[in-house]
Amino acid sequence: MPSLEELAAKASACTRCRLAEGRTNVVFGTGDPAAELMLVGEGPGAEEDRRGLPFVGRSGQLLDRLLLEELGWTRERCYIANVTKCRPPNNRDPLPDEVEACSPYLEEQLAIVDPKVVVTLGNFAARLLLRTGEGVTRLRGRAYPFRRGVLVPTFHPAAALRGGGVIVAQMRADLVRAKAALAAPAPPQASPAGKAGARPDAGSGPSFDPIDARGTSRPEPGRLRG
Ligand code: URA
Repeated sequence: MPSLEELAAKASACTRCRLAEGRTNVVFGTGDPAAELMLVGEGPGAEEDRRGLPFVGRSGQLLDRLLLEELGWTRERCYIANVTKCRPPNNRDPLPDEVEACSPYLEEQLAIVDPKVVVTLGNFAARLLLRTGEGVTRLRGRAYPFRRGVLVPTFHPAAALRGGGVIVAQMRADLVRAKAALAAPAPPQASPAGKAGARPDAGSGPSFDPIDARGTSRPEPGRLRG
């Protein structure tokens, strides 16, 4: 397995998709290479493209605040990456072939960091890692078995910046869910191959939810079950 540095060097010269043409920097990822918690966003915005670091714009500031307030963690304790490592022009959504071209980098980051808990931010990361077409509004509100632990889907902080208090409150509840999962014993292995784990649409029975299982979930506005 390569190191994160080796993988980052490879990504820095990547021309697998058209996003390479417009980038200033490849935004590979940052944080503790042995983090227990990995956060996965969609793709770099303008500020991230300029600085070569994930979540350093307004969305990142909100994310930093929520991490600190709900987990007591700074970003240095986590590993932060995105589905696409290059900025889509004009902040458009990444296209399916761009996601596909870039996803081996994320798979390798997951294999190297080997986090216990993955929090996906927004639709793209949740759909890619859970291998579903379902949106985050329906997916969130529970934890899914994933690799050696769980995956907790939540909204993208940009959605919270647009959508206000209810979305922020739901993100807070999801981060509390991630915190409980970090403290919980690891669930039984979801996928022996160690690849992306649960398929929420596969009908494989009830999924692990450390908060629900312990009955400690706090009331949460507008929670939807998937
Ligand atoms: N939005 C993302 O999805 N990722 C970033 O790094 C910044 C904004």
